[in-house]
Amino acid sequence: MSVFERIDKLSSFHGLSVEEYQALIEERSEEAAAELASRAVSARKAIYGNAVYVRGLIEISNYCRNDCFYCGIRRSNRACERYRLTPEEILSCAKEGFRLGYRTFVLQGGEDAWFTDEILCQLIRQIKESCPDAAVTLSMGERDRESYQRLFDAGADRYLLRHETAVRRHYEKLHPPEMSFSHRMQCLRELREIGYQVGAGFMVGSPFQTSAHLAEDLKFIEEFHPDMCGIGPFVPHHETPFAGFPAGTVELTCYLLSIIRLIYPPVLLPATTALGTIDPKGRQKGILAGANVLMPNLSPLRVRKQYELYDGKICTGEESAQCRNCLEKQMETIGYSIVTERGDIKYG
Ligand code: SAM
Ligand code: FES
Repeated sequence: MSVFERIDKLSSFHGLSVEEYQALIEERSEEAAAELASRAVSARKAIYGNAVYVRGLIEISNYCRNDCFYCGIRRSNRACERYRLTPEEILSCAKEGFRLGYRTFVLQGGEDAWFTDEILCQLIRQIKESCPDAAVTLSMGERDRESYQRLFDAGADRYLLRHETAVRRHYEKLHPPEMSFSHRMQCLRELREIGYQVGAGFMVGSPFQTSAHLAEDLKFIEEFHPDMCGIGPFVPHHETPFAGFPAGTVELTCYLLSIIRLIYPPVLLPATTALGTIDPKGRQKGILAGANVLMPNLSPLRVRKQYELYDGKICTGEESAQCRNCLEKQMETIGYSIVTERGDIKYG
């Protein structure tokens, strides 16, 4: 089967086998990428038109009990200057975001035990009260099922937990032995059972990753059908064990964005900050490959640089309002517009 026949099969909403996904990745060409992107954009336009959804990202803490080898805020990074926002600060970021037109807030942080269920539940309720109709998304890592349930009952709507890689052996190369692939996958299943809109995802070009691993990631997306899928290039951080590894590429990230759009057309797909970091036009390229979500930063300026997952992270010097204006202009230049909506998944 040629690459173009595989693209045909994918666009008629037939999944591919893992071997076929692998071949689609390995045999890619500029022509194949252009064909995939054009079909991905049509599939997305049929559901979402030219609307791009925005999520205001609030980086609530860079304390983390984990030690992921790729991550700049891992606990072993002694050079990382730690901070934690107070609930009042987080609420005021959300209110500022609401004023700017955001209708989804993503509370993201390292796995910081200070954020107990009690504190988070109260915060979620306050955000929901102060920002009517806004969705609250959490991205706080692995917690136990009861905790996820309490946070959901308090009003959290969505949860982002990238699976990082669908291959156990690869997971073990990216994480220390105390972290568990099975547990991460179990968390994703529990979040779904509880009723969250769930986001999975992975890095592109992470150390030791092969096209066979990526093919398994695609199969996982095809089977799990996450509501959101965060994929962005791996970008090295100088204070981590992976400091010397090369970053992932815009080209492969965009190719995979197009494939994922075709695998599951309704999926909410961000053009990530990491993509914008390795290429000034990265986020526009992501949208033109089939993405439909942007996650501008709403964190207070003073902490932006400290939430440094990787080197060179963009948007650490701009006020929230500036970030939003800048993204609006970037989207206008490619014929898209940012909309003020919660941006829930639509099934067509
Ligand atoms: N602690 C939460 C968790 O583990 O899901 C949320 C925060 S974590 C920093 C968010 C995501 O950042 C991770 O899922 C990972 O994919 C991504 N990330 C971390 N280090 C990265 C790097 N060096 N390059 C690109 N993405 C990275
Ligand atoms: Fe915990 Fe990265 S190691 S957020």
